[in-house]
Amino acid sequence: MTAGFENAVTGSPKTCLALANGPVCAHQTEARAALACTLEVPFAHLPPENKARAFGLEYASLQLPDGGQLFVTPYGWTLRHYLLPQQWYTHKRFHRVGERQQDGVGTVYKVPVSPAGARPKFLVVKFSRFAQSSLVYMGSYLPRGLSPGALADAYLNSPFEEFGLLVALRKTQVRAKSQVRTKRPLAIYSPPDIIDSRLLGRSESRFASCVARLERDQDSNGGAVRIRLDICRQYILLYEWVKGENAKTLCRQGALPLDELRQLVTSTNDDLRAAGFRILDNKPERIILRRRKRDGSLLRRQGRLVYALVDFELLKQP
Ligand SMILES: Nc1ncnc2c1ncn2[C@@H]1O[C@H](COP(=O)(O)OP(=O)(O)OP(=O)(O)O)[C@@H](O)[C@H]1O
Ligand SMILES: [Mg+2]
Repeated sequence: MTAGFENAVTGSPKTCLALANGPVCAHQTEARAALACTLEVPFAHLPPENKARAFGLEYASLQLPDGGQLFVTPYGWTLRHYLLPQQWYTHKRFHRVGERQQDGVGTVYKVPVSPAGARPKFLVVKFSRFAQSSLVYMGSYLPRGLSPGALADAYLNSPFEEFGLLVALRKTQVRAKSQVRTKRPLAIYSPPDIIDSRLLGRSESRFASCVARLERDQDSNGGAVRIRLDICRQYILLYEWVKGENAKTLCRQGALPLDELRQLVTSTNDDLRAAGFRILDNKPERIILRRRKRDGSLLRRQGRLVYALVDFELLKQP
């Protein structure tokens, strides 16, 4: 990640703060009232002007009073009060109270969120790196049959592609009742701030390819609201937090032998392949395991470690 991108992520979101703190104009009061009404409606009954669809997944499309856009998945709709930016984004709350995740080069936070009267929960706040000119790649165990050349040509999924592919993977798991568990995709937020695309590290040609794929998909299968990516805006993915610890940490702690760690990465790749997917840069840091409360041993079913995967920037269908 470039220093510019880092600043863009944690720097002062002027527009947003001005709108959140400044005098509330009539337009904003109306926007807040409209939003409050929409939030009362069950997902299935949302009107067409609040429905978008991309890569096979429907979204509640919300134009927020701060000028931002929030796209909430059906999984996220039950948690919509947790997902509103004032709960985790405004005044850089994710940065102030969240815990930055260190096992990756991207910008990922675990953020406690507790809307009034509701049970506290943790959200994963992940800044999308799609269309960045340099794909930073950390050593991993390549899925079988994947050449280093194929990896060099790989691109990071745009946020809507990432969610679409993840939901397609989750559906195969429900059908096959198989091993691959994943975190649930909840929402995509695009704050109103306009940022120089060079600070976001975006390449125009990579961005154009993402736009073309999204446009093609919406031409044939889109919803009433057209989703448009903006090269000068950030896109933040909100996921549920998966309880447990990643396999690399557990190995360092001595809870998972190195041989079993290697075997685990290979078997997660095999499980993904059996479902018709691959994660090009799969590695132990993305594999979450859980310990049993009673004796601290790792949770297993039928002898196999129970695991969940958490990074889908490079989830692909061959
Ligand atoms: N939903 C989640 N539940 C639990 N832990 C998570 C979750 N999402 C991320 N993490 C933790 O945060 C770390 C970093 O997340 P992630 O792998 O998504 O970041 P990244 O920047 O894409 O990593 P990389 O640079 O390796 O691609 C993970 O290794 C994992 O330990
Ligand atoms: Mg990643």
